[in-house]
Amino acid sequence: MKILVTGGAGFIGSHTLVELLEQGNEVVVMDNFINSKEESLRRVKKITGKDFRFYQADMLDTAALDKIFEENEIEAVVHFAGLKAVGESCDQPIRYYTNNITGTLKLIDSMSRHGVKKIVFSSSATVYGQPKEVPIREDFPLKTSNPYGETKLMTERILSDVVKADPEWSVVILRYFNPIGAHSSGLIGEDPKGIPNNLFPYITQVGSGKLQRLRVFGDDYPTPDGTGVRDYIHVVDLAQAHLKALEYSAKSQGIEYFNIGTGKGYSVLEMVKAYEAITGKTIAYEVVDRRPGDIAECYADPAKAQKVLGWSAKYGIEEMCRDADRWQTMNPEGYKDEH
Ligand code: UD1
Repeated sequence: MKILVTGGAGFIGSHTLVELLEQGNEVVVMDNFINSKEESLRRVKKITGKDFRFYQADMLDTAALDKIFEENEIEAVVHFAGLKAVGESCDQPIRYYTNNITGTLKLIDSMSRHGVKKIVFSSSATVYGQPKEVPIREDFPLKTSNPYGETKLMTERILSDVVKADPEWSVVILRYFNPIGAHSSGLIGEDPKGIPNNLFPYITQVGSGKLQRLRVFGDDYPTPDGTGVRDYIHVVDLAQAHLKALEYSAKSQGIEYFNIGTGKGYSVLEMVKAYEAITGKTIAYEVVDRRPGDIAECYADPAKAQKVLGWSAKYGIEEMCRDADRWQTMNPEGYKDEH
């Protein structure tokens, strides 16, 4: 299949490119490098020994999008491109809505005008808000509490309306839980700008000595050890879910939603202990106040993805810690200065 990958230089995008190329797909990549580096694409080529066409372009640029569809016989789109930081989205809502919503509208409009009607969209468990219970099923009520989450939920709704208006579309919505880990080569991984917002890159940077100590956001949640529980999923497992989603979309029409998680929750302190045990490193931490907007527990019921897509997570916490640590050790400054 010839697939357009938007945001292909990012954390999940680059890992998905590797899996797509290794399975013999032809890919066309688009990225604006707002939150990613070109070096990640060079590393994808190094891992796979395969080449692909790349466009440095922004989704808001209709002419650039049209050019991509005119120059390539695209069959399906995997749409990762988007801004993704919750705190930043509260400070810059207009930028988030413009980029994530207007950008996606322009993408699907260009797809539609070029007869491309298959898309796999990166959504997030954030669309469930504070779930009524765990594990979370796809039919749970949806509610978000920040502009980033709103853009994910709104995009889901836009795509649902597109399918209603034209039943030839095939839309697969993947709701990611907490992606961590890295490719086993250590060549690609998560490269957050500045100080990481998310737990795991923070832990690996404390492990490597780049940051001093982790702040654990609250130990008074109604969880076994009082710290927040999440469903951490290896990014390579997550990447493979996109291949299953593409296979599914090739033979289906309409819209389907899937949780992409392991179904197992780990607390912040369990993650710290697992990382210490697997890497032999020490993670200094202190408990501080809860982070506003955080919930106690969030983990998936991944049964639907298993049943309908034939996908389930293969990697456990050991591989997640080991691979993230290898990436951090081999690339202490991320992709920096490799140009
Ligand atoms: C966050 C976003 C979510 C987004 C996801 C993408 C928030 C509130 N939610 O999820 O919308 O889809 O990232 O990856 O930002 N923690 C610490 N110390 C830290 C960082 C985190 O104790 O320095 C704790 C948090 O309180 C939470 C857990 O670690 O219990 C995971 O946090 P994080 O990695 O930021 O992910 P989420 O908040 O689940």
